[in-house]
Amino acid sequence: MKILVIGSGGREHALIWKLKKDNDVEVFCAPGNAGIGQIATNIDIKVEDIDKLIDFAKNEKIDLTIVGPEVPLAMGIVDEFEKMGLRIFGTNKSASELEKSKDFSKAFMVRNNIPTARYESYTDSKKAIASLEHFNYPVVIKADGLCYGKGVVICHDREMAVETIKDILEGNSFGSEGSKIVIEEFLDGIEVSLICLVSKGKIYPLETAEDYKQIYDGDKGPNTGGVGCYSPSSLLNKDLYKKVEDEILENIEFGFKKDEIDFTGILFIGLMVVKDMPYVLEFNTRFGDPETQVLMKRLDSNLLDLFNKTLDNTITRADIKWDSKPSMTVILTSGGYPGSYVNGYEIKGLDKVGQDITVFHNGTKEEADKMLTNGGRVLSITTTGKDMNSIRDKIYSEIEKIDFKDMYYRKDIGENIEY
Ligand SMILES: Nc1ncnc2c1ncn2[C@@H]1O[C@H](COP(=O)(O)OP(=O)(O)O)[C@@H](O)[C@H]1O
Ligand SMILES: [Mg+2]
Repeated sequence: MKILVIGSGGREHALIWKLKKDNDVEVFCAPGNAGIGQIATNIDIKVEDIDKLIDFAKNEKIDLTIVGPEVPLAMGIVDEFEKMGLRIFGTNKSASELEKSKDFSKAFMVRNNIPTARYESYTDSKKAIASLEHFNYPVVIKADGLCYGKGVVICHDREMAVETIKDILEGNSFGSEGSKIVIEEFLDGIEVSLICLVSKGKIYPLETAEDYKQIYDGDKGPNTGGVGCYSPSSLLNKDLYKKVEDEILENIEFGFKKDEIDFTGILFIGLMVVKDMPYVLEFNTRFGDPETQVLMKRLDSNLLDLFNKTLDNTITRADIKWDSKPSMTVILTSGGYPGSYVNGYEIKGLDKVGQDITVFHNGTKEEADKMLTNGGRVLSITTTGKDMNSIRDKIYSEIEKIDFKDMYYRKDIGENIEY
């Protein structure tokens, strides 16, 4: 069987690692990275180049294509593949709108009684500035479209809010992705990621995870794509999970039906838990990075079976089985990230890392037999263990063996976690 995975990050590396672990499959990845290249065949096609991806899938007789990132999903890659009779796992163009437009997804939430932060949306900067009257500080200002995790600004005072509104709506700092903004009430709580398989609008949740977004220890500094993660969440106890099921998952399923959203693929629910009440911060219509790295380490079921059953609408909750042991990942980043950084530094010591650690590659390339950095996020150092303390000890002592110029990572991932 031949599989094509689209994307090039730690998420795709983890998916492919899991697919290959449980199945005798040949995997191609477009465009992939150096780590992925060690277990699959990298194909030099960009994730946005849908025509070329279709040609490749046809010529290679690919049995199943799996889409990692949001951009091709929002462009309608699933609709295009299906038109050609090609089997593909991901959300179609209209379902992907739940990630592509924050205004669309907030309206969906409000319409369907899904708890979320109060919001207003604007295309006109004067009206947006006038509306700041309706909000306290800090206030959250979001570009409507896809901004690779850079489109959200938490504004501490009116001056910063006005400047942010002008930057996005007048200065076009996010181009057309910022032609509209969402202004949102700030929720002070703890974030939990809940990634779900969705088959014809029915939700099948995977395990929970908690992602570390800020670059510095103690959740200081600017937001990143995520620099550490562990699973399961230590926060979502039985009572809270029941609230998520009853007030969020059920209402989403109901909303899909009522609004005639034909949803099959991945729904990633970004939750904020405030004083024992879960709110939805946002929806993504794909796996998260680094959540996928920790989830794939814990998933006992065969991922390929889950994808096939989701597509064939035969999946049940009992199909999704987990290792009860927690897992964690720490991301090694290029110095300067999430600001500017330099690529192309040689990564040393990977051959010395212990067998019980899985190193997923986020941004690497190979040149003249050397492994080089090639992104802000470089490597996800991942493992499972009996408790968080032993996992932390293991990961942080193995990281000592790895080195590249200006390598940086948080030292407090998984600290003070009690189950
Ligand atoms: N209403 C809010 N209150 C507090 N923090 C928020 C709020 N909305 C977003 N954030 C913070 O900003 C991050 C990014 O926002 P999100 O809506 O997930 O957009 P994206 O992932 O597309 O950048 C969130 O993970 C969270 O840390
Ligand atoms: Mg987010």
